[in-house]
Amino acid sequence: MADPLFPADFVWGAATSAYQIEGATAEDGRGPSVWDTFCAVPGNVKDGATGDGAVEHYHRSAEDLDVMASLGLDAYRFSIAWPRVQPDGAGRPDQRGLDFYRRLADGLGERGIAPMATLFHWDLPQRLQDKGGWENRDTAERFADYAEIVFDALDIRDWLTVNEPKTVVECGYRSGVHAPGVQDDGRAFVALHHLLLAHGRASRVLHDRHPGRRIGPALNLHPAYPADDAPGTAEAVRHKDGLENRLYLDPVFRGAYPEDTLAWIAERSPMPSFIRDGDLAAISEPIDLLGVQYYTSHFVDAAGERVLKHPTAQLEWLEIFPGGLYDLLVRLKRDYPAVPLYVTENGVPAPDEVAPDGRVHDTARVTFLRDHLTAVHAALSEGVPVEGYFVWSLLDNFEWAEGYDPRFGIVHVDYETQKRTLKDSALWYRDVVATGRLT
Ligand code: FCB
Repeated sequence: MADPLFPADFVWGAATSAYQIEGATAEDGRGPSVWDTFCAVPGNVKDGATGDGAVEHYHRSAEDLDVMASLGLDAYRFSIAWPRVQPDGAGRPDQRGLDFYRRLADGLGERGIAPMATLFHWDLPQRLQDKGGWENRDTAERFADYAEIVFDALDIRDWLTVNEPKTVVECGYRSGVHAPGVQDDGRAFVALHHLLLAHGRASRVLHDRHPGRRIGPALNLHPAYPADDAPGTAEAVRHKDGLENRLYLDPVFRGAYPEDTLAWIAERSPMPSFIRDGDLAAISEPIDLLGVQYYTSHFVDAAGERVLKHPTAQLEWLEIFPGGLYDLLVRLKRDYPAVPLYVTENGVPAPDEVAPDGRVHDTARVTFLRDHLTAVHAALSEGVPVEGYFVWSLLDNFEWAEGYDPRFGIVHVDYETQKRTLKDSALWYRDVVATGRLT
């Protein structure tokens, strides 16, 4: 059989986020974010790592743009640090922050690379957290103001609102392993509602002010499967699917929280009482694209516990199952209104693996990417409107609570010297981008 061939206009990209790569956290007026606060507490992040220096992208963006150009990328997904634009999360913007992203967008344009900008990739201004963060409804209104500033300042067509609201809910507010480090289901789902409201408000602002541009959320979705055929497993799978997927997709696409999941939430959170008239209409502001982030699937038993059925990557949560991406894409087409889909994150971590010759032979990553792109191609062949794919990540970077050990980049970064080296996966991806074929 011939290698799968992607459509000529398929968008090949790579993704990053501000706090994970920029560094320069105290420069040019940037205010503190919840991640600065979180990293400063001993024990929160592995080895006491922080994003203070990260991979110095703030000062090396020209070099990083050239790396992207050398790969032939069609598109680059990055996030804007809200605390660079509004150090306190409100009020007049700091031009220096805006100028950084303006230069980045210009640099992409000069190299024929289309920008896709994420408004919020978790680095909430600390000042807003001090006022209740996402538990405070006002944060959603502040987000709309911030969005308006960057929409007007930056000549960018494609936007993502909130990156993985589920991770903020689950890791930031339930398990507490991410900023702001809360462990409270009651508060978690209040935050969820306001994150979705923020998504809707910002989307509306873009539609009102910049017709023709496109916007949507970036949702990490976890297909749920039965781990066995014991009595009760099917119900546990449905519940898991509610919490992992429908809780985010249904309000955005259908203007309603899934009833079964909302009933479960109501038993542990005052969240339902925070839903005001008109909120679901705002949240279901029509979207122009959906960012789909896929790393893993969840196989669960009757108790709802995860059962690993496949090998995992360096990070245990990442059970490697490319079939889940195919199922997810087909399901989105089957169950929800058709919008252009972009896989806005997909990738795999590995420990540092520089060979004596200085090359990085990340064979497992090549296999991972090829298998997942094969799944994307299979979905495309069935008419699923996938328009593009962004590998996570362009560069090795700060992997949140895991620090710098798990390297997700297709480009290696030497953390001592900041030298960038194309890994074998980057060389492979460059060929895929050039030919549209998975070799
Ligand atoms: C996603 C995040 C991204 C990165 C990858 C590995 O949940 O959006 O920033 O950390 O996981």
